Amino acid sequence: MDHHVKDLGLAAAGKARIEWADADMPVLASIRERFAEEKPLEGIRVAACLHVTTETANLMRTLAAGGADCVLCASNPLSTQDDVAAALVAEYGIRTYAIKGEDTETYYSHIDAAIAHRPQMTMDDGADVVGRIHAKFPEALEGIIGGTEETTTGVIRLAAMADDEALKYPIIAVNEANTKHLFDNRYGTGQSTIDGIIRATNRLIAGRTVVISGYGWCGRGAAMRAEGLGANVIICEIDPLKALEAVMDGYRVMPAVDAAPLADIWITVTGDIHVIDRQHFEVMKNGAIICNSGHFNVEINIPALREMATSEREVRPLVEEFTLADGRTIVLLADGRLVNLSCAEGHPASVMDMSFANQALCAEFMAANAENMEPGVYEVPEEIDAEIAELKLASMGVAIDTLTEEQIAYLSSWQEGTV
Ligand SMILES: NC(=O)c1ccc[n+]([C@@H]2O[C@H](COP(=O)([O-])OP(=O)(O)OC[C@H]3O[C@@H](n4cnc5c(N)ncnc54)[C@H](O)[C@@H]3O)[C@@H](O)[C@H]2O)c1
Repeated sequence: MDHHVKDLGLAAAGKARIEWADADMPVLASIRERFAEEKPLEGIRVAACLHVTTETANLMRTLAAGGADCVLCASNPLSTQDDVAAALVAEYGIRTYAIKGEDTETYYSHIDAAIAHRPQMTMDDGADVVGRIHAKFPEALEGIIGGTEETTTGVIRLAAMADDEALKYPIIAVNEANTKHLFDNRYGTGQSTIDGIIRATNRLIAGRTVVISGYGWCGRGAAMRAEGLGANVIICEIDPLKALEAVMDGYRVMPAVDAAPLADIWITVTGDIHVIDRQHFEVMKNGAIICNSGHFNVEINIPALREMATSEREVRPLVEEFTLADGRTIVLLADGRLVNLSCAEGHPASVMDMSFANQALCAEFMAANAENMEPGVYEVPEEIDAEIAELKLASMGVAIDTLTEEQIAYLSSWQEGTV
């Protein structure tokens, strides 16, 4: 079987960790059981470009149980777990192309290998496969029925493609499901971002000033968790509504240039470019740590930092210290790539359970309905979102109330007012 992974000898360790994650992914496991019986994806070729983690392995197992013929490549050069990639090939028979630390050329050669599979369905995290197919391999568009997209940045790119009438097939924006972004982006990115910083640096968070650029779903999760560990949190935003929410949530809010001299640790999670730039490096504290949890490694202007630095050295794995002309140092984590996936293991399985349940059910929906869908970006069907919330609650042993007939009638009427 064709594949490109670091070392197949790591497969046994990878399998054990995949099973450990699976134990905390009950919703996906129940979908996998049903898929194994019903085979809703029978014979469909799927090219998935996702972070190659234990949770993704369980999604691949689910798609394969449903009858799909899957290939997997990495959606980030630093997020691959090499033992998982090995187990996917050796234990689960999934063609996988991913090596942690691969260079840009190898990264794209892995995406090209996935496209060479001539997928009928694409499953992206950041829209690199969709972008590459449209730009470099338009012949591969033939036969594609549809796709899914996992993250905010990918959805933004796809919406821009659709606006330009460049997008040639329908794609479901999994990120937009409530059972995805309300949990994965907030609690998943929140916990794992702080986890990544701690694993990389072993620094105490308590009493430190943590600046967070972007108070979207990910940013608010990171803020909540940093505060929980005793940090003084400052938020930088460009959207007045989000800034107002941050103020009312109890955080200090200020422009980035004012926050720069205060930051002990600065996290970007905006999906934007050059959020930390030259003017900020100029006034940052000696020893400040900067990192990114947004999708691409452009949120920190690393080329400018390299230009300004008189020397650089790796002080710990994925911890790079830049010395500036005035003697100050600035510490960059994971080369500005997703710190939670590069320095830790990404989101814990329990939240990926819901994100990947969405992926699996959207793939099933796409297989059944794609022929009636025009090219464009689609919301996750409400029934899928609701089903996942119900299944997740049930798996947690949490019961809720149901509306009585009287309440259903009341909530759908307009006649009753002040009594
Ligand atoms: N690390 C992960 O595992 C992970 C998980 C999910 C999403 N993401 C990525 O994280 C990024 C954010 O996702 P989200 O769901 O929170 O998006 P979001 O749209 O909810 O939030 C982004 C926020 O950033 C703000 N912003 C934009 N430019 C800014 C700037 N220059 N300065 C300050 N704030 C700015 C926006 O106003 C918005 O409030 C995206 O790139 C997304 O793909 C990463």
